[in-house]
Parts: sequence; C-alpha cells; structure tokens
Amino acid sequence: MRSLFGKIFLWLLGTSLLPVAAFMATSSYFLPSGQAPAFLPIYLWTLLGTAVLGYLVAINLVRPLRSLRRTVEQFGRGDLTARTGSLRKDEIGGLSRAFDRMAERIETLLTAERRLLQDVSHELRSPLARLRFAVELARTDGDREEALTHIAKDVERLANLVDELLQLTRAEGDPSSQDLHVIPLNDLLRSLVADCGLEAEARHRRLALKVDGSAIVLGERELIRRAVENVLRNAIHYAPEGTTVEIVMTLVAEVATITVRDRGPGIPDEWLGQIFKPFFRVDNDRARTSGGVGLGLSIAQRAISLHQGKVEARNANPGLIVTIELPHAKGLAGRDAVLPAVGAGSFKP
Ligand SMILES: Nc1ncnc2c1ncn2[C@@H]1O[C@H](COP(=O)(O)OP(=O)(O)OP(=O)(O)O)[C@@H](O)[C@H]1O
Ligand SMILES: [Mg+2]
Repeated sequence: MRSLFGKIFLWLLGTSLLPVAAFMATSSYFLPSGQAPAFLPIYLWTLLGTAVLGYLVAINLVRPLRSLRRTVEQFGRGDLTARTGSLRKDEIGGLSRAFDRMAERIETLLTAERRLLQDVSHELRSPLARLRFAVELARTDGDREEALTHIAKDVERLANLVDELLQLTRAEGDPSSQDLHVIPLNDLLRSLVADCGLEAEARHRRLALKVDGSAIVLGERELIRRAVENVLRNAIHYAPEGTTVEIVMTLVAEVATITVRDRGPGIPDEWLGQIFKPFFRVDNDRARTSGGVGLGLSIAQRAISLHQGKVEARNANPGLIVTIELPHAKGLAGRDAVLPAVGAGSFKP
C-alpha cells in the first residue's frame, strides 16, 4: 500500500475487527453452554492481530516523521547539508523530498552569498591599498592633482568591481539576467596584454602574445577579461625574472583556446585539481610573499564556466600552462551590439 490514505484505511479495517470479535465473543453467552470457549480464542487472536497491526501502522507513520523532524532540526541548527534522503513513495516521502529540495536551494543560495562576500573582500583589497597610498601621497606630496587622479581612477575601479561581482552572482543564480556582448577575443587579449605589460616590465618579465584566427565570444566582456587577467597575473607573478610569459590564442573547430604559459615552478601534480578551489594556495610560504589569498583562479573558473567554457592547468616543465576554452560565437563577427538580457536564452554554444 503506497499512500498514507491506504495505510489509514488498512488500520481502520483492522480495528473494525475489534467490535466484530467482541460481538462474536459476547454472543457466545447466548449460545448453549459448552460452545462459548470455541469463540474465545477467535476473539483473543483477533484482538492480538488488531493490536499488532495497529502498532505496525503507527510505527510506520511515526518513524519517518521523527526522522524528518530530526533532519529539520539539524538543518535549523545550521547544518546546511542535512537531508532526509527519503525513498518512501507515500505522502511522508513526498514531504521529505520537498524538504530536501528546499534545503538544496537554500544551501545553494547561502553558499553563493558567502562566496560573494569572500570575493568582494578579495577583489576590493588591491584598489583599497592603492587608495590608501594615494591619500597618503596627497597629504605629503606637493602634487595633489596627480594623487587625486589616482584616487578617482581607483574609486571608478572599485565601483566597477562591485558591479561585476554582483553581476557574476546574479548571473549564476539567473543566467537570463546577463547582458550579452559580442566580444572580439583578439582585441580583448591585446588590450589586456598592453595593460599587464607595464606590470610585467616593472617586474622584469616580458609578455608575448600570438593570435591565430579571430574568435568571437558572446558574453560579459568584464567577466571574460577578469578571468584571463587573473590567469595572466598569476603567470607574471610566478614567472622567474628575465623570462617571457606566452599568451596564445587559437580558433579550432568553433572553440577559441587561450593558453597562458610561464616558466615558473609549476604546481605539484597532486594539487593541479585543487587550484581552482576558493582559497586554495599551493604552499603557505608563497602566501606570505605574494599576499594573494587564492581566489583569483576560482573567480576565473566561475566566469568561464558561466560562458560555457572551461579552464584547466597542466605542468609544462618548466612552468605552468593554463588553458581557457570558450565557444566561438560563429556568425556574430563584425557585430558590436549589446544584446538585451532577454536574448540570453539564445546564449548557448
Ligand atoms: N602560474 C602559476 N605558477 C605556479 N603556481 C601557480 C600559478 N598560478 C596559480 N598557482 C598556484 O595556485 C594558487 C591559486 O591561485 P589563485 O590565483 O587562485 O590565487 P593567488 O594567486 O594565490 O591569490 P589571488 O587571489 O590574489 O589570485 C596560487 O596560490 C599558487 O600556489
Ligand atoms: Mg592569483
């Protein structure tokens, strides 16, 4: 019997035997003496059967409800992974599964909120540090105008960053809220390499960009830019002085592939799968010297997978190769329009 109704019905049927049995037992008093004992065992057995049936039904109903209550309490205490995992086919099973779905959704939303908080604080750090420096400069240095220009630039950047992170979280929750741009990847890479080139030069590393084909990606320019920038900045950071970081873009079979290769220490093979996880850093010494917190690659991965792409890393001995693959938006080359968010439904490779 699958439904709760069925069980209750069965239980009622069982208990209804009780008065029948009682009637049969009492009616024996009206029967000629000597026959009464023949009904007594029937009565007793019926009574026993009804009691057992009633107990089984009650246990069957109460046990899953108790387990559901325990799971709800566990979830309420903050264990967001608590689930009933019920396989029952009746109404209690349905209720348990509805709870599991609700818990799943709440866990996803809360995790996304926490990640947003981590990402925001991480990404705000560098512009804030520069701002502090610029304010100090404005106080002590004569050239206030220049310091103010720096401050204005960083304030602008902070505003952009907040927008971008909010956009990333919103888009993860609801892909249809994305504003889609036609992004020529070649231009994006050229401007990125020009921007990062100054930093690389200051650290005595070179950047070499090689572009093969003209790839177009449909998506959010800032997110893609940020993803590649995080990978490139890592490469510049870990590349030894005097070496070149190579950035290559190819377009093969409608897939645009960007590889960033440095000649640094690479990553121990057992950690390769971990570096895209938030806050993962290969060793703590590096953390102390580089000041990074280990969010750059996780932000990059989220941004790229949002565009139906993927990021991977492998050792090149020497150095690390990080590969970013993105679907080429064939047929949109030459267009530069910003597609409205409602067009997001067509944003599939
Ligand atoms: N090109 C690279 N060569 C060697 N190790 C790397 C390279 N790129 C990343 N890693 C390792 O992967 C870890 C995670 O990188 P990720 O960019 O996520 O964080 P981070 O650079 O430490 O900090 P940030 O959040 O400032 O980017 C790094 O701490 C580093 O140990
Ligand atoms: Mg980094």
